[in-house]
Amino acid sequence: IDVAYRFFATDKRKFIVADTPGHEEYTRNMATGASTADLAIVLVDSRQGILTQTRRHSFIASLLGIRHIVVAINKIDLMDYSEAVYDEIVADYMAFAKDLGFETIVPIPISARYGDNVTAPSANMPWYKGPHLLEHLETVPVETDLAEKPFRMPVQLVTRPNLDFRGFAGEIASGRIAVGDRVTVAKSGQTSAIRQIATMDGDLERAEAGQAVTLVLEDEIEVSRGNILVAPDARPDVADQFQAKVIWFDADPMLPGRSYILRTEADQTPATITALKYQVDVNSFAHEAAKSLDMNAVGVCNLSTQQPIVFDAYTANRITGNFVIIDRISNRTVGAGMIDFALRRAQNVHWQAIDINRQARADLKAQKPAVLWFTGLSGSGKSTVANALEKMLHARGKHTYMLDGDNIRHGLNRDLGFTAEDRVENIRRVAEVARLMADAGLIVLVSFISPFRSERRLAREMMEDGEFIEVFVDTPIEICAERDPKGLYKKAMAGEIANFTGISSPYERPEDPEIHLETVGQEPFELAGRIEEFLTARQGES
Ligand code: ADX
Repeated sequence: IDVAYRFFATDKRKFIVADTPGHEEYTRNMATGASTADLAIVLVDSRQGILTQTRRHSFIASLLGIRHIVVAINKIDLMDYSEAVYDEIVADYMAFAKDLGFETIVPIPISARYGDNVTAPSANMPWYKGPHLLEHLETVPVETDLAEKPFRMPVQLVTRPNLDFRGFAGEIASGRIAVGDRVTVAKSGQTSAIRQIATMDGDLERAEAGQAVTLVLEDEIEVSRGNILVAPDARPDVADQFQAKVIWFDADPMLPGRSYILRTEADQTPATITALKYQVDVNSFAHEAAKSLDMNAVGVCNLSTQQPIVFDAYTANRITGNFVIIDRISNRTVGAGMIDFALRRAQNVHWQAIDINRQARADLKAQKPAVLWFTGLSGSGKSTVANALEKMLHARGKHTYMLDGDNIRHGLNRDLGFTAEDRVENIRRVAEVARLMADAGLIVLVSFISPFRSERRLAREMMEDGEFIEVFVDTPIEICAERDPKGLYKKAMAGEIANFTGISSPYERPEDPEIHLETVGQEPFELAGRIEEFLTARQGES
């Protein structure tokens, strides 16, 4: 991420300027640079007026909690310092920004080139009575009173500052504390009192937002990294389902159902967007139905995390209310989010404790449950090999079940097509079903193209350790197209089927499958035999 920060100070104030170029592909920079800013200067070119970019950036600034806006109407020299031009742009800006929740919006006509109204009033615009830019920046009241908010300290490190007690190091995100104050561990609810506030420069009696400290508590309680120490009487939410606004940065769209990494100030966990409620049109701010979020889009989503996370609403705390989304394959930061609230269902749906467990069910069948995940192109032979294997297992008295793409798509997944978002959902559902079946003690054979690494990995992570066995049915596409058992390649090549895997939609080869079957010149029963050997060896291990 590439944001240029500049530092300067005047007699009245210190400034950190995050310079974030405005092009389409820079939303990521803009959101990063703006996430802690008190004020945003939105630059408008007098010759062009308000653009989609102006609206988008103002909207994102408002989502990021910026409450003060300067509309710098630049290059006014090229418009003969015209008051009419200025008035029109101001009217346009005010009309769309009125509902964005800014506390102040101050338009200033400037010429960056000639310095009009930048650090001194301009003689060229006697009609303009407002402040010049620097004057406004020096005087606008922006105090973000983080110290006045409830105490929050994300724990970055667990240390041992002295032999007897562990210390919890981090930067105080909000609030203030003193020795003797009680603090609570957000996730467990355990409470203790502060014995010592250690810093690099010696111990303190008290500390507040912005300071990096190591806290030693009176009691030896469990505080893992990724936890937050909080005020006992003003606790954050701890939940694994919540609603948030998400800004998407990446060229690859956000797909509901895909597993991403969600990273908060303190913590990180796998997470999926379970529902995209709507996206917001940045020109009209209208809510629109959407199935995925493209680059620069903003959506309101429900998210579900694998582990509960600790958070506040973003409107209450910009540090504990924000997160970023990271792609698990590329490791890129692909989105940023601002949490609205925990979903009530997260509190009200509990796991039902069951006495007859998976072990008991598997024991009765005298087998080790497994999910054999066959992936490969259409026509590669997945179902043929899976079918051969199932017969062999059945003959040996194993309890099996086959989940096949073509069949499941007639029932459970009949509502899904072949767009990327539908394929993600297709795999998510079938992986859930496979998981239940493995839990029931079965050996499950799943035969789906499953073209994306992300979702195969999601499926793998749903299963118990060692239970997911990826079988790559590797047949070159020319051979698949030649076999063309269903006549689909012919149609796809004639352009009659959209998003056809291998032709107009990608297939991401497995990088490290448990079993790699190169099918050319092999008989299905031979290939199935290799899988059976793998299973026998695995069963022997246990
Ligand atoms: S997946 O990509 O979502 O895993 P799945 O295995 O369920 O696909 O379904 C693949 C089957 O659907 C293929 O074997 C083929 O018969 C059929 N099909 C129809 N349209 C397409 C398409 N556009 N791409 C791939 N397969 C298709």
